[in-house]
Amino acid sequence: MRISAHQQARFLQAILKENLLAETDESFHFFDFDLFDSFLNQVKSAMPKAKHAVAIKTNPLPQVLQHIAEKGFSAEAASFQEVQLALDSGFEAENIIFDGPAKTQTEILALKSIAPEVYINADCLEEADEINALWPEKKLGLRIGFEGKGSEISSMNVSGQTSKFGEFIKDLDQAVDQILNRPFIRGLHLHAGSQINDFSPFVFMLKKGLDLASRVNSKSVNQILNFDIGGGHPVNYKGDPFSFSGFSDLLKSESPELFNFQVLTEYGRFYHAHAGFTCSRIHRVKNRGKSRQIIVHLGADSFLREAYNPEDWYHDMAVADEQGNLKSGPGMPFDIGGPLCFGGDYLTKNQDLPNPRKGDYLLISDTGANTFALWSRHCSRPFPKVIGYKNGEIFILRSQEEYREIYNFWKGK
Ligand SMILES: Cc1ncc(COP(=O)(O)O)c(C=O)c1O
Repeated sequence: MRISAHQQARFLQAILKENLLAETDESFHFFDFDLFDSFLNQVKSAMPKAKHAVAIKTNPLPQVLQHIAEKGFSAEAASFQEVQLALDSGFEAENIIFDGPAKTQTEILALKSIAPEVYINADCLEEADEINALWPEKKLGLRIGFEGKGSEISSMNVSGQTSKFGEFIKDLDQAVDQILNRPFIRGLHLHAGSQINDFSPFVFMLKKGLDLASRVNSKSVNQILNFDIGGGHPVNYKGDPFSFSGFSDLLKSESPELFNFQVLTEYGRFYHAHAGFTCSRIHRVKNRGKSRQIIVHLGADSFLREAYNPEDWYHDMAVADEQGNLKSGPGMPFDIGGPLCFGGDYLTKNQDLPNPRKGDYLLISDTGANTFALWSRHCSRPFPKVIGYKNGEIFILRSQEEYREIYNFWKGK
């Protein structure tokens, strides 16, 4: 399920009726916890024995993290600060996976004292050795990479020899020895990329990773216990959501050995994307003959990837009038410009919209993942209000940022 334009309009009407928008709330993000849960449940029921972590970076609102912890899921942290966010939001340390390619010695030592049970995936052998020197008794996972295309979107691909991530495995025999020489490595981690629409390169890499693990285990007393298959499950931004069960069935038939290990997953986009939509007041409509433009109150600050890599990303859009009634009828193409002061600040171009007018609302679908989570401070605009929906109730999840918070951010201490 995704939140259709009709449902978005109905939510907007309810929000207006309940006066949840102040005059300054020119835009808001919306997050449907019930729908989010249905995606969590899908993955859990397809792989009930695996430990499922949700990538924090996809949507780091503490209220959402707390909900994930209460559901019994784990958290994947890409930075030390994300580990702290997870701890502060109620995750037990043993349910946090710490990834990321730039962990510092200071962070490792801090973790050792505040949350020693956090599971760490070392980015590469060198990092594994550095951590081991500081913390000899700590068992680690090792991020590995193989030649292959982890995603067809180049900025989302993290596989191959030129990737900045992981220990690139060229020679399997050499890798077996390198891991056997480091008995503190007890898990392998293969996050190949995001928005993986074609699973075959991933399965190919996974088979190599499993081969590596079994060769290590055949020469040791089961040194490798955990196999973390990362994130990357794709989202269909143009229609009905993809399911997870096809992929898990594929893994069960193609790589059944995977399930001899404690399997870890780290999905982000798949859980969050459909659970959110975004709404902005239409500030202005400009008709320039050749090009028609509308200006809205969110741009590259909430839609960073869409603005910079427009050919890679897509969101369905619709228009509602001032009362929240969905507009229909023949559309005309509009470029959707944001409020920021640079020429690339567009959510999209040539979007067909039916008769948008100043004061209407633009509704943007499937924005729960990697939108406001990539918030930028360009032009010092306030982080927008976030409205939540849970058990049939609509509520303010997070208020719009106040000017003083922006001032304090720039000023520092
Ligand atoms: C190490 C790691 N794990 C998990 C994820 C989540 O990926 P996705 O949102 O594509 O599922 C990411 C995303 O960048 C990542 O870098």
